[in-house]
Amino acid sequence: MDVVDVISILSRWVHLLSVVVAVGGAFFVRFALFPAIKGALSPEDHDKLRAGIRPVWSKIVHVCLGLLVVTGGINLYVTMAHGVKPMPYHAIFGVKLILVLVLFFIAVALTGTSPGFASLRANAPKWLGVHLFLATCIVLLSGVLKSIHQAALTIPLAG
Ligand code: HEM
Repeated sequence: MDVVDVISILSRWVHLLSVVVAVGGAFFVRFALFPAIKGALSPEDHDKLRAGIRPVWSKIVHVCLGLLVVTGGINLYVTMAHGVKPMPYHAIFGVKLILVLVLFFIAVALTGTSPGFASLRANAPKWLGVHLFLATCIVLLSGVLKSIHQAALTIPLAG
């Protein structure tokens, strides 16, 4: 095992853990927190709860997105170093990247305070649903990328 293998494993761990925290948190908010709050809290108490959660959760989400960009770049470098053929890897990766950019936009708009995105935050359950749908597509595409990568590394047995 050389240094590239060690960096590759560390990067994979951090990539996956960032996905687990960011997407798992969004899943909890959409399917546990929002239904529990609906009808149980007055709009004022809802705003207070949101104001209490937002500063902490937005920092966690921003750190996860930053780690995903850094570790995603390292993953891509390692894949290229392994000599994976451009097609269909690059085409699938391109689709993944477009979905990732949309997902990042929704995550930042929902956790931020910009008045320009107030309408997104007003429809947070709907946009969290879109966010989770995109996250699911990205995880499925990443699995395909991993399989293509893995297949390129498999050395056929002699004989
Ligand atoms: C700029 C952001 C991102 C970049 C550049 C990136 C890039 C990559 C690359 C190159 C791989 C390795 C695929 C292979 O083995 O050939 C990978 C794996 C993966 N990525 Fe991303 N990714 C990003 C964001 C995300 C996001 C937002 C998610 C989920 C919502 C995600 C989920 C995954 C998963 C599940 C794997 C498979 C890891 C494994 O099995 O080791 N990625 N990513």
